[in-house]
Amino acid sequence: MNLFEKQSSEFATRHIGPDETETNQMLATIGVGSLDELIDKTIPAGIRLQKKLDIAEPISEFEYLTQLKKIANKNKVFKSYIGQGYYDTITPSVILRNLFENPGWYTQYTPYQAEIAQGRLESLLNFQTMVSDLTALPIANASLLDEGTAAAEAMAMLFNHKNKDHDHISAGKFFVDEKIFEQTKEILITRAQPVGIELVFGDYKTAQPDEKYFGAIVQYPNREGSVEDYKDFIEKVHEVNAQVVMATDLLALTLLTPPGELGADVAIGSSQRFGVPMGFGGPHAAFFSTKDEFKRNIPGRIIGVSVDAENNRALRMALQTREQHIRREKATSNICTAQALLANMAAMYAVYHGAEGLKEIAERITLLTQTLAEHLQESGFELVNKNYFDTITFKIDHRQKLEEISQSHEINFHFSSDDLITISLDETTTKNDVLDILSVFNSAKDIDTSAITFDNEASLENIPESLQRTSEFLQYPVFKKYHSETEMMRYLKALENKDLSLTQSMIALGSCTMKLNAATELIPVSWAHFSRIHPFAPSAQTEGYDFIVKDLENLLCKITGFAACSLQPNSGAQGEFAGLMAIRRYHESKNATHRNVILIPISAHGTNPASAVMAGFKVVVTKCDEQGNIDIEDLKLQAEKNKDSLAGLMVTYPSTHGVFEEGIKEICDIVHANGGLVYMDGANMNAQVGLTAPGFIGADVCHLNLHKTFAIPHGGGGPGMGPICVNEKLAPFLPGKNNEGTVSAAQYGSASILLISYAYIKMLGESGMKKATEYAILNANYMKARLKKYFKILFTGKGGTCAHEFIVDLRPFKTSAGIEAEDVAKRLMDYGFHAPTLSFPVAGTIMIEPTESENKQELDKFCDALISIYEEIKSVENEEADKKDNVLKNSPHTLAVITADEWNHSYSRSKAAFPLDYLKENKFWASVSRVNNTYGDRNLICTCEPVESYLEVER
Ligand SMILES: Cc1ncc(COP(=O)(O)O)c(C=O)c1O
Repeated sequence: MNLFEKQSSEFATRHIGPDETETNQMLATIGVGSLDELIDKTIPAGIRLQKKLDIAEPISEFEYLTQLKKIANKNKVFKSYIGQGYYDTITPSVILRNLFENPGWYTQYTPYQAEIAQGRLESLLNFQTMVSDLTALPIANASLLDEGTAAAEAMAMLFNHKNKDHDHISAGKFFVDEKIFEQTKEILITRAQPVGIELVFGDYKTAQPDEKYFGAIVQYPNREGSVEDYKDFIEKVHEVNAQVVMATDLLALTLLTPPGELGADVAIGSSQRFGVPMGFGGPHAAFFSTKDEFKRNIPGRIIGVSVDAENNRALRMALQTREQHIRREKATSNICTAQALLANMAAMYAVYHGAEGLKEIAERITLLTQTLAEHLQESGFELVNKNYFDTITFKIDHRQKLEEISQSHEINFHFSSDDLITISLDETTTKNDVLDILSVFNSAKDIDTSAITFDNEASLENIPESLQRTSEFLQYPVFKKYHSETEMMRYLKALENKDLSLTQSMIALGSCTMKLNAATELIPVSWAHFSRIHPFAPSAQTEGYDFIVKDLENLLCKITGFAACSLQPNSGAQGEFAGLMAIRRYHESKNATHRNVILIPISAHGTNPASAVMAGFKVVVTKCDEQGNIDIEDLKLQAEKNKDSLAGLMVTYPSTHGVFEEGIKEICDIVHANGGLVYMDGANMNAQVGLTAPGFIGADVCHLNLHKTFAIPHGGGGPGMGPICVNEKLAPFLPGKNNEGTVSAAQYGSASILLISYAYIKMLGESGMKKATEYAILNANYMKARLKKYFKILFTGKGGTCAHEFIVDLRPFKTSAGIEAEDVAKRLMDYGFHAPTLSFPVAGTIMIEPTESENKQELDKFCDALISIYEEIKSVENEEADKKDNVLKNSPHTLAVITADEWNHSYSRSKAAFPLDYLKENKFWASVSRVNNTYGDRNLICTCEPVESYLEVER
């Protein structure tokens, strides 16, 4: 490689851990002569790509940012008054810098390992408290994908609640007020149809619900901005034993009577305007709150309060979160990855502003809106909505002229029809902006703006007294303490320090691919030309995004070997649903609606069966053999048995057991021969890129977890992106095609983070991506080679190798020493590591996926830690250590425990805290001892504790 080639491919050397010397040492440990030999042994010859992907060679980080700046400038940042669920907002700089742009917050994993995740758990609990308080409903979850999805999840929850037996739907109707956001309607339509829900659209004022209804949804304020009083309607719905969902706006609720006080059963919406940029559609955190009676049915994750082994307060994810996907086809939702990072941002926005600050922002907006409304009315425009918060709708008779003038003033409005214009003001709106809006109307019609004044003291006449909020909110200490930047900065740092992220050590989570999330990939996400674009901005303003979207779709098609791509799904599971809906609609187009069976191997991730059920399919589970491979005989049997009703198969490749199964082509052929289509779960796509491809193998559709393979950070439990790629057969059935099958509120899902994956592909190019795949496989096999002397490794391929991950069997230690997989996971924390994936796909095991981004030194450190733990287990086995009082059972050891005056253990403090030398240089402390899950589930508390409990402490 010459100097110039070296320059353009520099990113690969930054992204991929091992250098040449380390590579050779690792190959020798594995016992192979070269990387090529390892790959040949690992991936079946029959599925290896025969030609290159035709993707451009890499460009340097500097060159990429320079090129991207030019593309960014093709987007036009107009003032946006479009609203409809997306509003310009001000991200406080202290949150932008210390949270949004901070790898200590965005590279964390979902907080399953609670003892090293107390920081984000606290922040998510703040989010839940904020939502619960503002909506006045007692239980809230820790975010959903977007407002539309949250509405659909609410509908599904109420439907399941009322119709326990799906074969006999007693109440299948759901009323949808015609004035909810259009994008929410579209998602409801997609989600209702496959499970047999009948949507009834209409005006809530004239709706006549009967006992055939299980629920209804209204928007508050509605899409025209009108603040309606739904009290009577809610009563009417309750009279027929049905429930009401209110889609709402958190900022408006600082001034409006909250849904809970109006009698609503569920409140949903988006927390975007709490400091999260619009980003052409996302990512943003949706919220969901409800009454106590639904606490076991809420979709998504819920953070709850519990205690640790020392009886100290400790947080962790509550019962149903952990159970959700274990219930597989009986799961009530497929939500896995959600929007944790954005929920944290929104929560911190509320913490920073506090109740008073939020109220001031809301009042300012509504006063500006009132002033605008009054002046437009004075000028003869007819206001449609008498009561409003920040959004007003006027009748117009000259749309084209108004549109032209507004564009020339670089202002966007929302035209819901040729004779209606909607204007939504937001936190960024100033008095001058209002004058600018008036001058647009001024040119369209004669208005004198010179005499306009803004009355600071004006009362809020636009909100009827009966709907003005009287109850207090956010009175907990956390929402009162951090209003100065110094305090906020320290609070953010204090929480960050409690959490183990990639800034500390490798996170070897099988199936989750915690690879490097490079700074250059992330920097453009906060550029205004990407972050301040409204998802419904006219296409003339989004040329930059359009270019990237097309290029990225094209690149992903080449990588997967498919013909078309949709960037809409906001997570892997959402991709599964979208892909299965494409399969469903394909069969419908062939008049084969009877094809309703999906085969799913027993080893599949829990979201697979959950998504299949959501898409209206019947799940038939197929077996795996002793080696963990799909039992082809059983699959064949099931495919043939269900020949007339077979819709398809869901398969993860390489398998969730970390093996490139030899029979995959045959498996695809069997399914096709019996009339089905093949859905490939792309969670393990990082072991395929550049070496093989789903389309080449024989699948018809796959999703890609961009937050795994393509470097989007996990953000402590989201954001993610799960685009789907399909072959020509399925291309007409992608989400949003012909306005059908919409799965996300915005056309390109969480569009702004597509930039991260785009950067990854551009900077690695074809050669770098292929190398990344090879090193993912090398790193896993190296660790396997080191660990196999101590632990039983479950499942390998024909050549004795694993793919990019492998499973370590810990079950024998339960019998030999009473040590469980969980003890090993917790003890790893004492060694400064996050546990690998625990008990998936096999209970009592850990699944290790090192990724290509870790070098040999880090891999060795992790192996040394596990081997040292092995020795610790051995000493329990041979009775040198006590069966109950040992370093494993008591792990993790906190600083408080280690430095306590009293020490009653049968082992030393140093053995507990510093079992290996490297820890003396860099020690990460778990902030709480082992968390008691059962206690927390029995005493479910999902918000900050009542204010009185703080008072008691203060007294
Ligand atoms: C094999 C597999 N399939 C599907 C998913 C779901 O993806 P997401 O969390 O993006 O919804 C996961 C998530 O970990 C997974 O490992």
